[in-house]
Formats: sequence, C-alpha cells, structure tokens
Amino acid sequence: MIREILKYPDPRLREVAKPVPVVTDELRALIDDMAETMYSSKGCGLAATQIGVNQRIFVVDCAGEDEPSDLRVFVNPEIIETEGSQVWDEGCLSFPGVSEEIKRAEQVKMRALDRSGKPFEIEADGLLAVALQHELDHLNGVLMIDKLSAIKRRMMGRKLAKAKQDDAEV
Ligand code: NI
Repeated sequence: MIREILKYPDPRLREVAKPVPVVTDELRALIDDMAETMYSSKGCGLAATQIGVNQRIFVVDCAGEDEPSDLRVFVNPEIIETEGSQVWDEGCLSFPGVSEEIKRAEQVKMRALDRSGKPFEIEADGLLAVALQHELDHLNGVLMIDKLSAIKRRMMGRKLAKAKQDDAEV
C-alpha cells in the first residue's frame, strides 16, 4: 500500500524514531509499504519517519535506471565507522522539487537488522553512503535543510515555495 509522504515543514518529520524491539510480520508489511511508496515516488531512500511512523526503519535502493533493483532494508541502523568526506547534490521526498549540495562522510560502515531480524554490517561509499547517512538523519528528526548555511536555507525556503506554487498551477 502506498503511504502518504510527509512534506517539510510537517512537525512529525522532527520526531526521533524509537528502536524496533522485534521484527514481526506486521513490521515486514510496513517495510513492503515503504518500498512501494519509495518506488512510486522514484526516490532512492525512504525513512519510516517520512510516512509518520515513529520507528527506526528505512529502505534504500540506489540502483541506476538500467540496473536491476537493489532494495536494502535497515532496522535499528547505527553508523559504526566513517571516513573521508564528499559533496553530493541531494534530494529528498519530503522536499519535492529541490536539491542541494551537502557534505557528508565518503565511506560509512553501518550495522542494522534486516527484514528477517538478522543483524548485518555493510560498508558503503558514493551514493549509497550518502543515502544511508541521509536516511539515518531522518530517524533522528534531522533534515537536509539543517545541513545548509543560513543563506542557502533561505534560498531553499524560496525554492520550496516556488515548487509548491508551480505544483498548484499544474
Ligand atoms: Ni529524505
């Protein structure tokens, strides 16, 4: 089932998500909804926070358009190591129509549970590393606009207003 994605400045995007005590069938159904919602919006990541669910879960799929899908599920994710830095032009399904260059770690090592509740670790770089950091931020109520300078934040506010207006005119 496709869920509604909360848009900035919805205050629910600021909530800190709670750890998942146990991965149940109900949770797997939620994960399926999250993947369906992400794909239907052509995003490469979606956190439970973005659909108003206060639990530490996100999904990502950073495969290119010509590549087979590469869905990854993270429950109770934690970053255990980071290295280097990179700047990526990021978008977010909660900020439709805008993108901004944001500096993050170049490589991350993350630990989480998969959809069967089994622990795993992943080392990522490039776009996948960006996505993992971006989605983990969502679970902590942190948004891409928080990473911008004051000037860029004001510019983003204007772009969002413009995008909203264009949307209303369609
Ligand atoms: Ni996002």
